[in-house]
Parts: sequence; C-alpha cells; structure tokens
Amino acid sequence: MHVGIIGTGRLGSLLVRKLIEIGAVTADEITASSRNPEKLRSLEDLTGINVGDNKEVVIRSDVVILCLRPLDIRGVLEELKDVLTHEKLLISTAVDFPLEDLSSSTSAKVAKVVPSITSEHLRGVSLVAFGPMTTEMDMDMVMSIFGNISSPALADEEDFEVLADITSCGPGYIAAIMKEFARAAANRGVPREHAEWLIKETLAGTSDILSEEGLDELISSTATNGGITEEGLKVIREMTPAVFDRLFDTTKAKHLRLRTMVKNQALKKEDSSKKMAFRKQ
Ligand SMILES: NC(=O)c1ccc[n+]([C@@H]2O[C@H](COP(=O)([O-])OP(=O)(O)OC[C@H]3O[C@@H](n4cnc5c(N)ncnc54)[C@H](OP(=O)(O)O)[C@@H]3O)[C@@H](O)[C@H]2O)c1
Repeated sequence: MHVGIIGTGRLGSLLVRKLIEIGAVTADEITASSRNPEKLRSLEDLTGINVGDNKEVVIRSDVVILCLRPLDIRGVLEELKDVLTHEKLLISTAVDFPLEDLSSSTSAKVAKVVPSITSEHLRGVSLVAFGPMTTEMDMDMVMSIFGNISSPALADEEDFEVLADITSCGPGYIAAIMKEFARAAANRGVPREHAEWLIKETLAGTSDILSEEGLDELISSTATNGGITEEGLKVIREMTPAVFDRLFDTTKAKHLRLRTMVKNQALKKEDSSKKMAFRKQ
C-alpha cells in the first residue's frame, strides 16, 4: 500500500513519522507534498520519504491523506480532480470540510479522520467517518492504520464538532487549565516552574490511574468525606460548567463561520463555471 500525505504541517508530519514508526508503511511507500518547501525538505531529511508535488503524491498513492486547513482544500481538490480516480481512497483530516463536498468534487472514495496530537505517544482518539462509496476493505484498512496510533472511534459526521473539541482540541484545553492551576499556585508563593512540574507529574499519574478506573471512582478515592479535596471539588462543580458550556458555544460559532466560508468557496466556483459556460455559448 502506498500512502500519500498532502500538507506536511503539524499533523501531516506527525502522521508520516508515526506511520513509519509503527511499521504500517515503509518510508519508501510514503510520498508527501507541501506548499511549504522547507517543512517538506526537513521531513524528507528526517524520514527518507519520497516527496513531490500534489499531483505526484496522488498518482503514486492508493490512500491520500489531506492534512490541510479547510479553506485550502477546495483549491487542492480542483487541482487534483483528474488524478483522484475512483480506486483511490481520499481521507481528509479537517472537521469543517464536509464529506459530501469531498465526494462531489472527486471520483475517489472518501473518508474523514480527525486524529489527535496524542498520537505522538500512540494514545488518544481518532474520529472516523466514511463516505458512501468506501468498501469494507477500505474501512478495515483505515481502522487498522489509525488503530495503531490511537483508539479509532466511528462517529456521525454531524457530531464531529463537539467530539473533536474533546479529542483533538482537548490536549490544548487540558494544558491551558493546568497552566491556570500553576499560575494560581505561583500567586501563592510556589515558584512557577516548580508548580508546573508538580502539576505535570500529577497529571501523568492521574492519566495512568484513569486507564484502569472511572472518573467518579478516582474522584471519590481522593475526596474523603468532609476533607480538603471535598472543598475544592465544590468550587470546581460550581465554576466549571459555565466554562465548558461557553467553550462549546464559542467553538460552535467558529465552526459555523468556517463552514460558511467553505460553502461560499463552492458557490463562487459554481458561479464562475456558469459564467465560463455562458461565454463559450
Ligand atoms: N494539529 C492537530 O492536532 C490536528 C488534529 C486533528 C485534525 N487537524 C486538522 O488537520 C488539518 C491540518 O492541521 P495542521 O495542524 O497540520 O495545520 P498546519 O500545520 O497549518 O499544516 C497544513 C499544511 O498544509 C500546507 N498547505 C496549504 N495549502 C497547501 C497546498 N495547496 N498544497 C500543499 N500543501 C498545502 C501548509 O503550508 P504552509 O506551511 O505554507 O501554510 C501547511 O504546511 C487541519 O484541517 C486541522 O484542523 C489537526
């Protein structure tokens, strides 16, 4: 199997490194392209993969993974229309570019996979949804590839926004919350660096415990009745629901703006095709 990666930013380069590391493919079976020649060259030097332009990537690959921001996708699909043929599997990692638009823009079979930066440590969740033409073999292959670098979770495309807030944005949110924890400790005299180290160690231990027990179990084993943790938990239960409700509302609004921009690109393209056809008549 030959895998193509278009866009070698943060996610594209992570996927290249990890797919080779887990032995899903050899460096020789990967071809990557990027608008950014420097990023592409440093990944080529690091891993020994093949590099080329976007078309070459598609021509050489059975599976093409688009690691592009949503507003960069439509132009690339237009560029690749002739080479994205029906036997290729095209996977997009962008939450806000609909599967329907992917399949209506190419003849390829399509899927959406939204991985997480936690795949760096072969952990976390990749959200997965398949387009209508994908075969069982395609599905098995996707679940197996992403199953080696994460826990793949099949989901309805319409739920991706909320789910990706947890799985893909979550590591950033958790780090930001921990930073606030460290900041508050620093305000009470603990050196900032030391506070951050204490929190990171505690978080790593907490994550290990949570691999074996549930959230409620962990909460009750730290909070003895009438003790100090119980007092802290009251504050968390009072203050954080509003934070997370606001967070989901705010990211939903951003998703809506992005989707509208993606849709407007399609309308603009449709409009200019009509004008071209009219001029030809
Ligand atoms: N990072 C994550 O943890 C994560 C997790 C799940 C899903 N995602 C999704 O994955 C996608 C990529 O995310 P990212 O964080 O990797 O973004 P990124 O770091 O900005 O990488 C995107 C790369 O695509 C390149 N590119 C843009 N237009 C191109 C074109 N026409 N042809 C070839 N390459 C092109 C960009 O080049 P330039 O450097 O010149 O801009 C950049 O190197 C996004 O849709 C994101 O939402 C990301």
